[in-house]
Amino acid sequence: MKLLQATSLTKKFSDKIAVNNINLTINKGDFVALLGPNGAGKSTTINMLTGIIQPTSGKIEYVGHATTGHAYRNKIGVVFQSSVLDNNLSVKDNIMTRAKMYSKSTQIQILIKKLGLESIWKQKYSSLSGGQKRRVDIARALVQSPELLFLDEPSTGLDIQTRTAIWDVLNQLRQATGLTIILTTHYLEEAQTADYVYIVDQGTIIAEDTVIELQKKYTQNLLTLNYQNGEVKKITVNDKNQAIKILTENSKIISDFEYRPGTIDDVFMNLTGKEIR
Ligand SMILES: Nc1ncnc2c1ncn2[C@@H]1O[C@H](COP(=O)(O)OP(=O)(O)O)[C@@H](O)[C@H]1O
Ligand SMILES: [Mg+2]
Repeated sequence: MKLLQATSLTKKFSDKIAVNNINLTINKGDFVALLGPNGAGKSTTINMLTGIIQPTSGKIEYVGHATTGHAYRNKIGVVFQSSVLDNNLSVKDNIMTRAKMYSKSTQIQILIKKLGLESIWKQKYSSLSGGQKRRVDIARALVQSPELLFLDEPSTGLDIQTRTAIWDVLNQLRQATGLTIILTTHYLEEAQTADYVYIVDQGTIIAEDTVIELQKKYTQNLLTLNYQNGEVKKITVNDKNQAIKILTENSKIISDFEYRPGTIDDVFMNLTGKEIR
């Protein structure tokens, strides 16, 4: 089911086009990634979709309704690239003031536990580490049980433990409640698990599809065979099954092999001719 749709969305800042005529469709329950380098227009897109800034032109619809107004804001949770929480308030006050704004706050206890906020609950937001702040930002975005969660580069600068903890919570929520997630990232591995990926560069969508289809279209799976006589052969294969077949046929004469499936890294490289970072 279609949840959010953006049509011909464009944003100009004076004569600079930050987002150029993009179309997005977000289906309920999906995890959608906007993947692109710095300056691609990801935050500008998120800011338009969440109603923070007005598009220069184009249309945004949420299951047939406009995305301006209170009703829409109640359905979405947002974690902005730079935090919008109050530095002078404690974690508790930052979260509870948000919780009071909405009737559904049963999630709070679960979120505190899962995001490990007990030990910092009374601490001032400004005194937290980057990873702690991010966990609070995410808890705050989730307190009102949104249908749709926007995450603008949530993992940038975080250590692997914090990233794993955050994704554990998000994946559990997706399973339990069918939460829809729109994520922007320049971490290729974060887009790798998405249901659908939009690759953005210089304000436009240069490719979109499921990860599997993007890999099929823009990458090659490479099988390297090391023969017992020292010869090395690199073969492009359609899939794992073809690789297994070749390996089985050659099992008596090879000493080693490597199978390297195409990745989202390759997709980006093939489309833009550059590395994402
Ligand atoms: N308020 C603004 N005024 C002028 N230019 C802006 C503004 N916000 C963003 N831009 C420009 O728009 C482009 C896209 O920015 P942004 O959406 O932040 O990219 P990303 O989030 O993908 O890194 C960049 O070139 C940026 O400098
Ligand atoms: Mg950004």
